[in-house]
Amino acid sequence: MQVYIQDIAKYEGKAVTIKGWLYNKRSSGKVRFILVRDGTGIVQSVISADQSGQGLFETADTITRESSLILTGIVRKDARAPGGYEITAQNIELIQLARDYPITPKEHSIEFLLPRRHLWLRSRKQFAIMRIRHQIIRACRNFLDQQGFLCIDCPILTPASVEGTTTLFPVDYYGDKVYLTQSGQLYNEATAAALGRVYCFGPTFRAEKSKTRRHLTEFWMLEPEIAYMELNELISLIEDLIVYVVTEVLEQRKTELTILERDIKPLGNIKKPFPRITYKEAVDIIKKEDKNFHYGDDFGAPHETIISKNFERPVFIHHYPVGIKAFYMKQDPKDPECSLSVDMIGPEGYGELVGGGQREDDYDTLIKKLKEKKLPEEPYRWYLDLRRYGTFPHSGFGLGLERTVAWICGIRHVRETIAFPRMLEKIYP
Ligand code: 4AD
Ligand code: MG
Repeated sequence: MQVYIQDIAKYEGKAVTIKGWLYNKRSSGKVRFILVRDGTGIVQSVISADQSGQGLFETADTITRESSLILTGIVRKDARAPGGYEITAQNIELIQLARDYPITPKEHSIEFLLPRRHLWLRSRKQFAIMRIRHQIIRACRNFLDQQGFLCIDCPILTPASVEGTTTLFPVDYYGDKVYLTQSGQLYNEATAAALGRVYCFGPTFRAEKSKTRRHLTEFWMLEPEIAYMELNELISLIEDLIVYVVTEVLEQRKTELTILERDIKPLGNIKKPFPRITYKEAVDIIKKEDKNFHYGDDFGAPHETIISKNFERPVFIHHYPVGIKAFYMKQDPKDPECSLSVDMIGPEGYGELVGGGQREDDYDTLIKKLKEKKLPEEPYRWYLDLRRYGTFPHSGFGLGLERTVAWICGIRHVRETIAFPRMLEKIYP
């Protein structure tokens, strides 16, 4: 009976068949150990010399890493085996002998691994990251579904910018210039007016010129948008989402966190409430370490790191000056210099994981903001309609999936948090 390695404990004492690939092997005297992976896990299989009559021993000696195979054997409990179970082999059917698989168990440089990403994904650490990524996506969707949100996906090809014009990827659209979407937000504001609580989750694009460990040119963003929600409630919603996601990963992906050697103590600290500070308070913290930072400057990665060092939990920074935020941010009626914006800075130096805020819902102010940001009115005409026909207070945010995965996995660079990363001038494979 074909089973998956992740379910192996259920078959103790039974004969099972695993369809997969050889991950690694070792020999010790008259015993051969082969590690087989099937996409759900890795299991050790034992072959002893007295099985040589069946040709098994010879197969174990000739089989190479990443050869495809079908293994049949009896499941045994063994505390010494990785995962606690092993398979006493009865048969190995070799499907293909892989020759000279380039990735060996030794350490390779990133320059070697990145062009071999299609193979690198088979390694144990990458396996763990992809499984945690999946769990995070599932947790985000479950959380929002449980709260009654509808998933309404937004277009990828768009005529206008959302997050400024300097990071747009132009696409020729039957002779017209359009762009790959930077964010589904503006469309989500329309669907929130139609359906109340919505979210989209999809790829977003930024022609980032910066080569940092936090930037991809194509990344996935979860973007909820909520009608009649104001800034403080929005912050509480983000907080609840993050606690839910971290708790789910801690409960469901222990094995993967162990493979990654993730210190789970800081993740255990992710409980409500998260600190909430104003931009001004954040500036005071930064100025203690960086004398050249001035009120009104935007935060770069080093500043975010300074902030996160001061807190064990994610930190909300709200009320940024209007000048450093996008045109759609609502001005604070009590302090027009400030916007009703919020960013969440992750702990342990992972930088900005979430950006959002309350949207400008006044037609005239929005027209003024477009002018100030030198954005043409025409492509935003439909968006302005939302302020003409039943405008309403509303808020939303975008959670960057890859940065969230990097944080929860404890991986330094976002390039390992997506199957095929796209970065500045890097698009192979
Ligand atoms: O702060 P950003 O630019 O916000 C927006 O796009 C809003 N329109 C979202 C909304 O309110 N619906 O991006 C949101 C998040 C960031 O906090 C970060 O986690 C991630 O997206 N992000 C990136 N991740 C990887 N590579 C990049 N180049 C990223 N740019 C933003
Ligand atoms: Mg941002």
